[in-house]
Amino acid sequence: VTVQRIHHVGVAVTDLDESIAMYLSAFGAELVHRAVNEKEGLEAAFIRTGTGEVELMHATRDDSPVGKFVARRGPGLHHVAYAVTDIEAALAQARASGLELIDATPRPGMHGGRIAFVHPKSMGGVLTELVET
Ligand code: CO
Repeated sequence: VTVQRIHHVGVAVTDLDESIAMYLSAFGAELVHRAVNEKEGLEAAFIRTGTGEVELMHATRDDSPVGKFVARRGPGLHHVAYAVTDIEAALAQARASGLELIDATPRPGMHGGRIAFVHPKSMGGVLTELVET
């Protein structure tokens, strides 16, 4: 089996501080990591909820991918990420299954490990991320 578990769910938000506070107070969740990715125009906060995480994503620029997503669809569910132990093997399997990859090769993720995205049109409209753990 290539996929181990759901690693995190990405949620686009308009106010990162407010969203973090909501998850912490409403769910007793824990903030594990917060970082800015200038290249992606993104600030993200990872909230631990049991064994999985929620990635709260806030655009730092309106023309960034998350900025455009929020302008088009409003805040809300953005992607689902699956943990894999061998991302090259997972990408090869996805490609062999006919999925359209956004990232043909893995790139560094904000969690430290390598990631790659699969196009939502290959996955029933769900932007899908693979995270190597
Ligand atoms: Co993610």
